[in-house]
Amino acid sequence: MVASARRQIHLAGFLLAGPVVHSHAVWRHPSTTRRFTDPLLYEDAARVLEEGLFDFLFFADRLGVSSQLGGSRDLAFRYGSQDAARLDPLPIISFLAGKTSHIGLGVTRSTTYYQPNHIVRSFTTLDHLSAGRGAWNVVTSMNDSEGRIFGQAKHMDHDQRYDRADEFMEVAFKLWRSWDSDALVLDKANGIFADPEKIHAVDHKGAFFEVEGPMNMPPGPTGHPVIIQAGSSGRGRRFGARWAEVIFTISRSTEEAQAFRADVRRQVVEQGRPADSCRILTAVMPFIGRDRDEAIVKRDEHNALARPELGIATLSSQLNFDFGRYDLATPIAQLAKDSAVPHAAREKLEALTGDDATLGSLGQIWSSSVRVPQLVGSGRDIALTLAEWFEAGACDGFVISPAYLPGSFVEFTAEVVPELQKFGLFRRTYSGATLRDHLGSTAPSGRDAA
Ligand SMILES: Cc1cc2nc3c(=O)[nH]c(=O)nc-3n(C[C@H](O)[C@H](O)[C@H](O)COP(=O)(O)O)c2cc1C
Repeated sequence: MVASARRQIHLAGFLLAGPVVHSHAVWRHPSTTRRFTDPLLYEDAARVLEEGLFDFLFFADRLGVSSQLGGSRDLAFRYGSQDAARLDPLPIISFLAGKTSHIGLGVTRSTTYYQPNHIVRSFTTLDHLSAGRGAWNVVTSMNDSEGRIFGQAKHMDHDQRYDRADEFMEVAFKLWRSWDSDALVLDKANGIFADPEKIHAVDHKGAFFEVEGPMNMPPGPTGHPVIIQAGSSGRGRRFGARWAEVIFTISRSTEEAQAFRADVRRQVVEQGRPADSCRILTAVMPFIGRDRDEAIVKRDEHNALARPELGIATLSSQLNFDFGRYDLATPIAQLAKDSAVPHAAREKLEALTGDDATLGSLGQIWSSSVRVPQLVGSGRDIALTLAEWFEAGACDGFVISPAYLPGSFVEFTAEVVPELQKFGLFRRTYSGATLRDHLGSTAPSGRDAA
């Protein structure tokens, strides 16, 4: 079989610029070599992922320290929850753009707490600095604590956040398109800076934004960042299908992932886009040993460092509800029906009832991995599992979530990438320069529908 003719796996490395990732044990794991405040931690990670020919390195983000669990932040600070501390990842990827040459660099920014012009200016600058390697994970944020640090008593309602996000994207794309690609002239001899005919006014008036433009800089080489999204609700998926070029998901089984991908691809087509214009990447947390037994020991040692109460803190932050008021033995099925739990959170718990019987066991899973499947085995075992998911149509690639840093990425690059290459499922060299080249996507996102 000719390797280049086959559909190829896409890979992203997942980080938070904080003490933990999906694993709440990252900072205290003996194999983690640097603090999250040390820029070399991120440089090491980016370099090893670039060696592994990853499509991109990605940073999630959260904007405030949650007090959803019992109205207090003590537990988050004492033990280091998912949002106990976060550096701003945008300066970090700007720093990494200068330390790397090919790997894509993605960060999260919220449409609820920023303005379109913040996003347009930052990501256009990044497009110039990184020569087309930037990506933006569009989120609507999660909880009241994020609202309060921006002076809002309550976080906006779920569906309204997505309505705002849709209009946010429309405004952002109007600004991104306000300069033609050849508007900048820089004719030194005649002293002509730019062609005003090729720079177009923006005058947007909508339900959430009134914006006058154009943007105040020429577009970068790719015009706008790769758009990433990770919505899982009906409204979130509809938003993703309209705008996203990459969608992240967390699925516990091939069947769950297949159903998600099929649904998103159907909705992408409904939005008038080719199904392959959106890559669906599912998250995994690998534990790699010389054999399966050694990998299981690694996983178990890791999970023993993840406190269940931290998992409940993160769950409370993510679902914007205080789960601390329930006994740990409370069945999740009961919580999913409890009218005291807000509707959006009940919907999410509903999907978790099959997994875990009680709040306590869900807390342990959340602390170990936020439900990201933990894979154990040799490099070849893991590569075989990934190939199986990929070939079953469960995803277009994987988000690799580390258990320790940079070791998880080092092991994956050394042990799994060569196996995927042997299967003919992963590149042996970067064939293009921009992130869109790596993703093999030229198709437009919802900007043309805007
Ligand atoms: C892999 C992954 C990464 C995510 N990263 C972030 C993030 O960095 N910041 C954030 O506020 N939400 C993040 N989310 C949450 C999603 O944006 C989304 O709100 C969540 O999946 C719930 O879906 P819904 O908004 O459609 O209800 C992430 C979700 C997933 C699955």
